[in-house]
Amino acid sequence: MWRLEGIQMRCLLSIFAIIVATLTPATAQPTSDDALRTAFARPTAVPYPANNRFTAERELLGRTLFFDPRLSGSNLLSCGSCHNPAFGWGDGQAIGRGHAMVPLTRRSPSILNLAWSNAFFWDGRAPTLEIQALGPLSNTIEMNMPIDALPGKLAAVPGYRRLFEAAYPGEPLSLDTITRAIATFERGLVSGLTAFDRWVAGNNDALSPAERRGLDIFVGPAGCAACHTGWNFTDGQFHDTGLPTRDVGRAQLDTQDPHALFAFKTPGLRDVGRRAPYMHDGSLPTIESVVRFYETGGEERPSRSPHIRPFRLTEIERAELLAFLRTLTAPPRDVAVPSLPR
Ligand code: HEC
Ligand code: HEC
Repeated sequence: MWRLEGIQMRCLLSIFAIIVATLTPATAQPTSDDALRTAFARPTAVPYPANNRFTAERELLGRTLFFDPRLSGSNLLSCGSCHNPAFGWGDGQAIGRGHAMVPLTRRSPSILNLAWSNAFFWDGRAPTLEIQALGPLSNTIEMNMPIDALPGKLAAVPGYRRLFEAAYPGEPLSLDTITRAIATFERGLVSGLTAFDRWVAGNNDALSPAERRGLDIFVGPAGCAACHTGWNFTDGQFHDTGLPTRDVGRAQLDTQDPHALFAFKTPGLRDVGRRAPYMHDGSLPTIESVVRFYETGGEERPSRSPHIRPFRLTEIERAELLAFLRTLTAPPRDVAVPSLPR
C-alpha cells in the first residue's frame, strides 16, 4: 500500500494550506473582543535598566544632548536632525543624509517605544540603547565625531559640567554617562494614547464599525499580527517580508539562519501615519502601498518568512484595514526642545 512519510505528509499539508490560502478570498473572522483587548493592552510603566535608572536630571541631560549639534564633528547635525518628532521621530526621507550630505544606506527609523526593544538598528546589531548611541556619533557618514574627543568637548562647556554632575553625581563626564543620558531620554519617548487604546480600555464606541472590522482583517486573513504583535505592534524579531532589496539585513550578523537573509527588525506601528516613506529603504511611499505590497506576497525566495504569502482583499476590506491602521496614530504633541548650555 502507498503510504506517506511524516515529512511528505507535512509537505503536502502545507502545499494544501497554501493553495487554500491563495484561493480563499480574505474574509474577516471576528476574534473575541476580550482576547484582542488582552493581546493589545498597553504596559503601565516604562522599563529602565537597573544600571541606568530614570531621574529627571538624566532625562533633561539626555534631551539636551539629543538636540545638540555640537555632538557632531561639524557642529551641524544632532540626533534630532534625523530623528525629528515632526516626522514620527524619523526624518521623512527614504534615505537620510548625514555628514557632508552623504546619503546613508537605510532609512532613519522612528525611535518611539524603544524602551521595550532589545535589539537596535534595522538589523539588530546593537544590544542596548546605550551602545546604539555610539554608532551614529562616530559613524563618518552620520555625525562624524572623533568619539574620544567628545567628553572633552562637552566638559569645556560649563553648563554641561553642571548638567552631568546633577544627572550622574560623582561620575566622570565620559562616553558612558553621555550615552546613558541619551538612552534615558529615548526610553521616555512613548507614543500617545489613540482611539485604539480607548477601545482596548473598554470603550466600544472608540472604533467605528469599519475600523473594528479592519482590526479583524489585521489579526485574521491579512496575517499582519503574526509579526506585528502586542500594544506596540512588533515581535522584536527579524523577518524577510519579500521586499525586493539588495541589503542582506540580519544576514550580516547571523550567517546560520537561512531566514536571516534580507530580514529586518519588525517596526512597531504606533504613529505609523507620521513617518512615510516606509520600510528599511523607504521604498514604499504610503501605508496603502505597504498593504498592497503585502497582498502580492513580495518576492518568492527561500529566506522569505513563512508568514508571508499572497492574499486578496476586496476594495472595502483594504479600506477597513487602512482605517484600522490610522487609529494607531496619536494626535501630535509638543516636544520641549531645551535651550543648549553654554
Ligand atoms: C544622519 C542621520 C542620523 C543621525 C544624525 C542619527 N541617526 Fe539614528 N539612525 C539613523 C539611521 C539611518 C538608522 C538606521 C541604521 C541601520 O539600521 O543600519 C538609525 C537608527 C537609530 C536607532 C535604532 C532604532 C531601532 O528601532 O532599532 C536609534 C535608537 C537611533 N538611531 C538613535 C540615534 C541617536 C541617539 C543619535 C544621536 C547620537 C542618532 N540616532 C543620530 C539615522 C541617524
Ligand atoms: C513576517 C512578518 C511580518 C508580517 C506578516 C507583516 N509584517 Fe509588516 N513589517 C515586517 C518587517 C520585518 C518590516 C520591515 C521590512 C523592511 O523594512 O524590509 C515591516 C514593515 C511594515 C510597515 C512599515 C513600517 C515602517 O516604519 O517602515 C508597515 C506599515 C507594516 N509592516 C504593516 C504591516 C501590515 C498592515 C501587515 C499585514 C498586511 C504586515 N505588516 C505583515 C514584518 C511583518
